[in-house]
Amino acid sequence: MRSLIDILDFSVEELDSLISVANDIIANPQKYSEKCKGKKLATLFFEPSTRTRLSFEAAMLELGGSVLGFSEAASSSAAKGESIADTAKTVSCYADIIAMRHPKEGAPLVAANNASIPVINAGDGGHNHPTQTLADLLTIYREKGGFNNLTIGFCGDLKFGRTVHSLIAAMARYTGIKIVLISPEELKLPSYVKKDILEKNGIPYSQTTSLEEAMPQLDILYMTRVQRERFFNEEDYLRLKDSYILDTRKLVNAKKDLCIMHPLPRVNEISVEIDKDSRACYFKQVLNGKYMRMALILKLLQEAAE
Ligand code: CP
Repeated sequence: MRSLIDILDFSVEELDSLISVANDIIANPQKYSEKCKGKKLATLFFEPSTRTRLSFEAAMLELGGSVLGFSEAASSSAAKGESIADTAKTVSCYADIIAMRHPKEGAPLVAANNASIPVINAGDGGHNHPTQTLADLLTIYREKGGFNNLTIGFCGDLKFGRTVHSLIAAMARYTGIKIVLISPEELKLPSYVKKDILEKNGIPYSQTTSLEEAMPQLDILYMTRVQRERFFNEEDYLRLKDSYILDTRKLVNAKKDLCIMHPLPRVNEISVEIDKDSRACYFKQVLNGKYMRMALILKLLQEAAE
């Protein structure tokens, strides 16, 4: 049974095909409005979410299917001690496909190993967030026309930022990619991502604490929130939370066609004045996420039926 747990579960060709379907959905939404008639998506969210859960639900509804699920662990039998494996086996009796978010890294993989229907990782701890990467890839494609020869700056919490880990893995498969890692010492990209992804694929990268210094070379700036929920103590979070705040002053030396991205939610790291800048792409990412999740649901249900 095909699932999506890690963005590398899909080949570059499969991602190209998802982008092509998403673009066709954008151009011809009516064509897709009954494609999932009679099918059910279960959204199992053990952690808070606005965009991912609601965009999955909107995606399935716009495909003519239905949705069931829960939005917090407390309202599921996980609160009584039920395992992920038993939850996955149970939900397989009621639904055709699962989207799961969980604070424990690897939980969606455990679900996939026990479910008899496709499972989509909607974010697992500080590990991966492959469907955010789908949203990011469609945004980059539509803004930049492709994926090669881009210099991408990742800024903020690169340690716990699961969207960063997944997008770096996806971009490392294209040519001419350069990565600039901008973070405080305490929130640097984990060494396993550097070794297993960047170094293994020969991707040139640099590390800095200065957003201003990095800015002039960037084609894409991917800002991230400092992930309060992953910190062991509040004191460290308070010290680091406002390490980077993007405002108009910091964009003075930026490229005119810079693409400013953020997976959202934002706290303080992008000043709201930037929202009016034509280079701000983060609300485009939100919408693109729905179209890519539609394409993903179609792909996984089609493969499950074969
Ligand atoms: N980008 C993202 O995962 O947002 P939510 O936490 O609101 O789902």
